[in-house]
Amino acid sequence: MKNTKGIILAGGSGTRLYPMTAVQSKQLQPVYDKPMIYYPLATLMLAGIKEILIISTPVDTPNIERLLGDGSQWGISLQYVVQPAPKGIAEAFVYGKEFIGNDQVCLILGDNLFYGKLDFLRNALENNVGGTIFGYRVTDPERYGVVEFDDHGNVRSIEEKPKHPKSNYAIPGIYVFSNEVVRIVPNQQPSVRGELEITDVQLEYLRRNELRVEIMGRGIAWLDTGTPESLLEASQFIHAIEKRQGTKIACLEEIALYEHYITKEQYLQHVQTLPKSSYREYCLSVANEI
Ligand code: TTP
Repeated sequence: MKNTKGIILAGGSGTRLYPMTAVQSKQLQPVYDKPMIYYPLATLMLAGIKEILIISTPVDTPNIERLLGDGSQWGISLQYVVQPAPKGIAEAFVYGKEFIGNDQVCLILGDNLFYGKLDFLRNALENNVGGTIFGYRVTDPERYGVVEFDDHGNVRSIEEKPKHPKSNYAIPGIYVFSNEVVRIVPNQQPSVRGELEITDVQLEYLRRNELRVEIMGRGIAWLDTGTPESLLEASQFIHAIEKRQGTKIACLEEIALYEHYITKEQYLQHVQTLPKSSYREYCLSVANEI
């Protein structure tokens, strides 16, 4: 597999979640039984990405680092960089330039949750040439970036929050870009709202004829957590599945063991250090099954 670096963008202002976000960032809020950022981190780990950069605000970055550490407990490498002000999603490739080095990169937004078989992502990492974005069918595309495409997955148009969407396919907050992205973004102009837009990065790949869209099928749940209601719904969704199956979604210890990022011995040693909790109990029970 091509080497891919992962970036979790976990800054922003989270204004829609005020007052929950008055002292703690959106990505540290609970989604049922784990901090939100566990979920995008789990997605990257399950896609085989082991080198991950987390970008957040000056206030929140130290807290996220206290929560996740350097990743060695899960056999991965976590690094941290501060975004001084929320000046756009595409800034991830400015602040992430050194970290990305010569590799391709997968960016995931810290408030986007995916649940289901992640083949779509593994395939994209394997086959990406320029840029790969995903299309997810929704009833309210006008709230998102919308992609229009032909039968061969060639993108015809991309529009940000269009009044009259040309398709029902929204673009979720997970993107795969070639190394070119670190040269594309510095040439971009901020939009009228003063941000470096992720849409403009996609449009540049489209102009170069190097943008593909992959359908994220209906077997995948894509949950957004930006409003109080969607945050509650995400918690309810995770709770319903965990309760029914007796499993945990986005248990990073379990994923590390399952993906062979750590040995069973390392796993057990680490789990012994966790506080007495249902999370720890779960980790202990999993050790006997894998
Ligand atoms: P948004 O949901 O667009 O913005 P926000 O998180 O600031 O929330 P609100 O609209 O309620 O004020 O951001 C999507 C994700 O991208 C979220 O995880 C925050 C992150 N983000 C940054 O880290 N830096 C940025 O400059 C921007 C624009 C977003």
